Amino acid sequence: MSNQTSAPGKVILLGEHAVVYGIPAIAVPLSTLRVNVTWTKVDGNNFQILANDLKNKDIEVKSEVNNPDHPLTRIVLAVLDHYNAPPPSFCFEIKSDIPIASGLGSGAAVSTALGRAVARSIGLDIPNEILNQFVYDIEKIHHGTPSGIDNTVIVYEEAIKYVKDISIEPLKLHTPFTLLIADTGVTALTHESVGDVRRLYETDRDKIQGIFDKIQTIVKLAVDSIEHGKLEKLGQLMTSNHKLLQQLTVSSPQLDKLVDVAINAGSLGAKLSGGGRGGNMITLVHESKRDIIRDKLLQAGAVRVIQANVQ
Ligand code: PMV
Repeated sequence: MSNQTSAPGKVILLGEHAVVYGIPAIAVPLSTLRVNVTWTKVDGNNFQILANDLKNKDIEVKSEVNNPDHPLTRIVLAVLDHYNAPPPSFCFEIKSDIPIASGLGSGAAVSTALGRAVARSIGLDIPNEILNQFVYDIEKIHHGTPSGIDNTVIVYEEAIKYVKDISIEPLKLHTPFTLLIADTGVTALTHESVGDVRRLYETDRDKIQGIFDKIQTIVKLAVDSIEHGKLEKLGQLMTSNHKLLQQLTVSSPQLDKLVDVAINAGSLGAKLSGGGRGGNMITLVHESKRDIIRDKLLQAGAVRVIQANVQ
């Protein structure tokens, strides 16, 4: 058995926010952006986690087993408790190329790769179904009331249609496609935008439910487009979804600007992805237009543009 595990990043393609209310959403793994965990034996009863890559503004790295509330410790303890095993004498090293706190699934990917590593270090392969539940429990520390879509797409590492508490359906892509993911550079807290949508919903249930219903139709058509390779249609659906997210008040001037720039530069469609208000915009592009669209997004103020080949 190798002493390395990993997990991918993710983006939500369609259906964020509405997914919290039981509407289906689509998410895809970003298999080229990964968290890797390796482990080596250490002397005595030491258990260590090295996470220098995560030393960044939003994640405090202090992860001994005697700090049981830290998310890194929580996943370790969840796995060890599950197998009724003592902490192994290993040093686990986490390396990540997923940007932190930008809606690309860094937290869930770290929990997933580390949970797998701890199980593997005691000679076991943890089933995805169990790991997914543990990672979800940790997502709740970060995000309050997450729908569960992030942990699910990351643990299973396949494109999924997800309905909260009901179903996880793998999607069969007819044709691979390319996304550009442009970071506004603005950090926004998902639980705040989710809370604001909740307040809107409680204030005017009929109106907001009407928006969710339109998103449901979009997601349904998008599944068909993905499974039949209708990429132009998929792009249009993404742009329509963005307009509905604007009505839910979770877009921002920067996100709207990047969406407009992508569309004007010839992309097939574009939208915010994830919690919104900041974070990332995603756009579906033809290979032939990829470079020009990337340049335009950078000129328009994107702090980073990542290419994702979804297959
Ligand atoms: O901000 P992200 O990428 O973690 O996505 C949040 C997605 C929401 O639908 C807004 C919330 C959720 O829990 O599904």
